[in-house]
Amino acid sequence: MTHRSAFFIAVLLCACISVVSGAITLPPGATVLHFYKLNNTCKYVEEFVKHQVKLVWEKDKSITAALLRLLYSDCFVTGCDASILLDGKDSEKMAPQNLGLRGFVLIDKIKTVLESRCPGVVSCADILNLATRDAVAMAGAPAYPVFTGRRDGFKSSAKSVDLPSPDITVQKALAYFKSKGLDELDLVTLLGAHTVGSTHCHYIRNRLYNFNGTGNADPNMKKSLVNQLRKQCPSNLTGHSDSTVFLNQESGKSYNFTNSYFSQVLEKEAILEVDQQLLLGGETKDIALEFAQGFEDFRRSFALSMSRMGNLGVLTGKNGEIRRNCSYTNKDNPYLK
Ligand SMILES: *[C@@H]1O[C@H](CO)[C@@H](O)[C@H](O)[C@H]1NC(C)=O
Ligand SMILES: *[C@@H]1O[C@H](CO)[C@@H](O)[C@H](O)[C@H]1NC(C)=O
Ligand SMILES: *[C@@H]1O[C@H](CO)[C@@H](O)[C@H](O)[C@H]1NC(C)=O
Ligand SMILES: *[C@@H]1O[C@H](CO)[C@@H](O)[C@H](O)[C@H]1NC(C)=O
Ligand SMILES: *[C@@H]1O[C@H](CO)[C@@H](O)[C@H](O)[C@H]1NC(C)=O
Repeated sequence: MTHRSAFFIAVLLCACISVVSGAITLPPGATVLHFYKLNNTCKYVEEFVKHQVKLVWEKDKSITAALLRLLYSDCFVTGCDASILLDGKDSEKMAPQNLGLRGFVLIDKIKTVLESRCPGVVSCADILNLATRDAVAMAGAPAYPVFTGRRDGFKSSAKSVDLPSPDITVQKALAYFKSKGLDELDLVTLLGAHTVGSTHCHYIRNRLYNFNGTGNADPNMKKSLVNQLRKQCPSNLTGHSDSTVFLNQESGKSYNFTNSYFSQVLEKEAILEVDQQLLLGGETKDIALEFAQGFEDFRRSFALSMSRMGNLGVLTGKNGEIRRNCSYTNKDNPYLK
């Protein structure tokens, strides 16, 4: 982890140097800390965003998981370009993996506020990154620095959505992360976000009743947890709604961001198979052990991996645009006609 921390500090120093030397021109093609402040276009953008997130968070703590999921869905598919926010019959929102995503209302509210304070300046992609940072910080993660200056993309297609299903194996999840330029440490770290998440019964029914065609529960799930989850998720779906189950049975409704997810993995108390499978790989197991024992290590790694995810395929400089409404490209925006 040391080499990555060093890289991150170097990037931070870089951003500072341009401030110290008083340079107003920002480096092209890169995101920077406090883009809108340096650029003098929206000095208080981070305060405005945080205030709106707090208003929602005080009433609905599940907003943290919703925004994390939204950011993941955006960044892993065609980069962090706010393509997940675009409306349309064939947009990313409409892909089967993305049905049920939430958080759009908050992003739209933030955009409305920013359009009244600093019109036409702040990208939807930056809003999503800043709002997610604030929501996870409210739940107990570090308030990591978010580089800004992203611009919004023009395209969004359900066909480009390659997000894996929650019942994927850890090998496949790792291959997927690597295909996006992330690694084992990012995978284990970001799976830790499951500490505030939930899932639908249909993704775990096989683990509870017919694991790998055996007619029994997954032997890698603690018996007491199997019994408890069977009550929440009956074997016969007919007549039952597909209930949701907290991925961290300990923090549950409090949505606290802790490292207890990793302790549960070690205790065979993970809900999703992919989480439990972290113990199968030598390296992923070591990282899970480290995080279970040290909350600070997990917090620090979380900040770095969120930052790496938030910089996947960003559009900067003359690429993309600043949307006036996050649901539409400016060309298709009915409010601009
Ligand atoms: C701020 O950034 C925008 C977009 O990159 C650029 O067009 C504008 O010139 C910048 N303004 C200042 C004052 O640097
Ligand atoms: C953006 O578009 C959505 C969908 O049409 C609409 O509900 C929302 O009010 C619009 N927001 C703004 C700021 O115009
Ligand atoms: C699932 O079953 C197949 C065939 O019976 C076996 O080869 C494989 O190892 C099993 N996988 C797990 C995870 O138990
Ligand atoms: C599931 O429940 C429905 C209605 O309660 C019943 O008709 C059906 O036979 C059940 N299926 C199984 C596999 O038990
Ligand atoms: C969640 O965190 C808050 C603040 O740190 C604490 O007061 C609360 O007891 C925690 N809840 C649980 C269930 O751990």
